[in-house]
Amino acid sequence: MVERQRSVVFGEAVEQYDSARPDYPAQLITDVLDYAAPGPVLEVGAGTGKATAGFAARGVSLTCVEPDPRMAAVLTAKCPGVRVEIGIFEDYTPDQGFGLLYSAQAWHWVDERRRWDLAHAALAPAGAVAVFWNLYLVADPNLRDALAEVDRRHGVKTSSLHRAAPPAGRAAEHPLADDPRFTDLGQRRYQRAGHYPAARYLDLVRSISAYRMLAPDTREALLAEMAGLVGDGVEMALLTDLTLARRTP
Ligand SMILES: C[S@@+](CC[C@H](N)C(=O)[O-])C[C@H]1O[C@@H](n2cnc3c(N)ncnc32)[C@H](O)[C@@H]1O
Repeated sequence: MVERQRSVVFGEAVEQYDSARPDYPAQLITDVLDYAAPGPVLEVGAGTGKATAGFAARGVSLTCVEPDPRMAAVLTAKCPGVRVEIGIFEDYTPDQGFGLLYSAQAWHWVDERRRWDLAHAALAPAGAVAVFWNLYLVADPNLRDALAEVDRRHGVKTSSLHRAAPPAGRAAEHPLADDPRFTDLGQRRYQRAGHYPAARYLDLVRSISAYRMLAPDTREALLAEMAGLVGDGVEMALLTDLTLARRTP
């Protein structure tokens, strides 16, 4: 039997994914486009277009690489002017040099031994790369601990949803710090907060790969327990961490 791959389980819950996952801060999109070199833009792992819609609205010429046709169908409906290439980035052959390559919540799924080589090859000289992730955190520490206990009891070890916020100002080391092919390195954090009604919170849980990998009856039991804990909804802290680099001309 072929092993079910964690990197491409999102399309199983495409509706919940698209309705429950947050978008990305408008200021991040402005900052990335200000930093980018002129020219066409490539997005890696576009999913249902949560980031794509924001970039497309700024009038850039966009090509999106996305392996899951279920996610890509929502993306195309949402962003009809965007070129979509179905497949993984590792198999994609760029037909032009891009002024910007960005990836939202997806760069960790690309082969870690090859991803920066592939980005370098896809960029025009002085082209920019921007990778970013939303971190959604339950703001109330008591509720967070209770939800983390439900995770533990059901064997979920790798969900980031129920952990404490990483301390501000202690971003991880830049992944390209020692790579002379890239320059002008940067890292930024954006902060937002929001109320998630219970149904949206539970759909967010359903959309996360750590929970998708559970057996369906285990997942439903976990969700029932979480529903009992969250009441009307959850106050969330949304952090977005951005990493920037430029191809050395
Ligand atoms: C967590 S989703 C992020 C989707 C979207 N960018 C967003 O911000 O909501 C990860 C996406 O990466 C895609 N993906 C997984 N492996 C990939 C790979 N090797 N190359 C390109 N995309 C990949 C998945 O199909 C999925 O749509």
